[in-house]
Amino acid sequence: MIVVASDHAGVGLKAQIIRVVEESGRQVRDLGPADESSVDYPDFAHLVAEAVAGGEAQMGILICGTGIGMSISANRHPGVRAALCHDAFTAEMARRHNDANVLCMGARVLGVGVAEQITRVFLDSEFEGGRHQRRVEKIEIEWEES
Ligand code: RB5
Repeated sequence: MIVVASDHAGVGLKAQIIRVVEESGRQVRDLGPADESSVDYPDFAHLVAEAVAGGEAQMGILICGTGIGMSISANRHPGVRAALCHDAFTAEMARRHNDANVLCMGARVLGVGVAEQITRVFLDSEFEGGRHQRRVEKIEIEWEES
């Protein structure tokens, strides 16, 4: 299951990206919003991050104007590795080296064709493991009170 959400700036691109995920044969769930009425991006980032962190979804996709607010918000959730990707290369490396499980994109930054390509590459690329496994494990740290 792939969960997808946006804010008002990303609603149009979200529909196109959902179609790309469906065409790949994967199950997809649209977590909103349904129209372009103004909303707050963290509300939707948290919905997707909770679904991924809780194991209901294998991966998530988040779209806002720049992708920045979505990535900052989603990365507050332990176990979520949200990557803001701008092209096929960053999408591929986010999966191969960082085991990213949430793809963030900026609807005001990317053309539709590039966003669709990023999505396909992100979904189809595999984590390499090996030395990258150790590094990914070091992302999750327990902060000690001083
Ligand atoms: C909304 O205007 C915009 O701030 C939002 O879509 C996003 O770019 C935030 O990071």
